[in-house]
Amino acid sequence: MAARTEAQKDRKESQSSGLQGVVVASTAITRIDPVEGRVYFRGYEIDELVTKSNYEEVIFLLWHGRLPTKDELASFSQRMAQSRDLPSQVLSILRELPPDCNAIDAVSLGVSALGLFDRRGKTFEDNAVSISAKMGTLVAAISRTKLGVAPIPPRTDLNYATDFLRMLKGKEPSEADAKLMDGMLILHADHEMTVSTFAARVVASTLADVYSAFGAAVEAFKGPLHAGASEAVVEMLDEIGGPMGVETYLEAKFARKEKVMGFGHRIFRAGNHITAIMRDYSEKLAATDYEKKRLAILVNVERLMVEKKKIYPNMDYYSGLLFQHLGIPGFLFVPVFAAGRTPGILAHINEQLSDNRLIRPSAEYVGSGARSYVPISQRQSTG
Ligand code: COA
Repeated sequence: MAARTEAQKDRKESQSSGLQGVVVASTAITRIDPVEGRVYFRGYEIDELVTKSNYEEVIFLLWHGRLPTKDELASFSQRMAQSRDLPSQVLSILRELPPDCNAIDAVSLGVSALGLFDRRGKTFEDNAVSISAKMGTLVAAISRTKLGVAPIPPRTDLNYATDFLRMLKGKEPSEADAKLMDGMLILHADHEMTVSTFAARVVASTLADVYSAFGAAVEAFKGPLHAGASEAVVEMLDEIGGPMGVETYLEAKFARKEKVMGFGHRIFRAGNHITAIMRDYSEKLAATDYEKKRLAILVNVERLMVEKKKIYPNMDYYSGLLFQHLGIPGFLFVPVFAAGRTPGILAHINEQLSDNRLIRPSAEYVGSGARSYVPISQRQSTG
């Protein structure tokens, strides 16, 4: 590859690198306030939703723009519960997964298979209900397959969070664990124009079907700069080992100019409430010495990062600790994040389609000028 010239570098800097600050769509779904660090779904602050609402109600809110009545919520929740079963063909495909496969690759495969075998509904919402309802079952089935045990079929008498945990762990969770899981799903349900959301909207704008647009989002979740950071944070915890090691660990990271996972955010430059809620959950729930020690490390790393670099933790920072508290293994953090975010992505796909125009930006060409083709027998070696 030819090195960039100074003129090319100057031109690149005059563009918005990484689309930072570029408004790519209007949305009525989620508002994030970078100054106050707050997140609102359809005008309701996430702090209030996480304490007073539940995941099914939040999904209804994201999709319909308003809170449901009691009857609407009961019928919507029932519809979601009755849509959790995976098609038998998808389960057969999952049986072939190699145990050491990357779990989010398996989710991607599962979503593609759903695109082939799911019974398509008549409306966008029919398909959205099916995908959202099945994501928990899919993630749980992948986890169990990787662990060498048979997937557990869903039940219709439990809410999404409880049944998801039950299918993951093989037994009904405690009320406290089910409540925490419900809260985690709400906290992940949408986050405005994230990389995965944008990927889904780009694919939706081509008028590809909803399974393909959602599948694009799943692919984007994989990277450590997006949803993959939570697993890396837990790996960092293992590496540091104890609060005494924090300073040494960070100094080495700074010296190597490496990013500290779970810190920084494109929009929230000074922290946000989701992270604060998760820190609060972690403080209340750390029960064992092991959990308390790991929380102490995280709090210490956060303090030093803010003190030395003025960089704040993002929502992937405390989530791994909480997922571990729920007995969810590290390899599943991204898939569980993806399941939680599913309704938000689907709301964005629907919003894109409701006023669609193909998303096709431009690029500034900085390559060679026009050249004539030289037959291979006449080419000189350049080396
Ligand atoms: N650790 C150390 N320094 C960091 C950092 C981190 N996690 N995140 C940002 N910075 C620094 C950058 O090096 C840069 O410093 P500089 O101006 O001296 O070059 C400055 O903060 C601005 O960061 P930038 O990379 O421009 O931010 P971005 O908006 O392009 O990237 C992230 C945002 C999330 C990709 C980035 O913060 C990151 O890689 N974080 C770690 C991965 C992570 O936690 N991802 C989950 C996101 S929810």
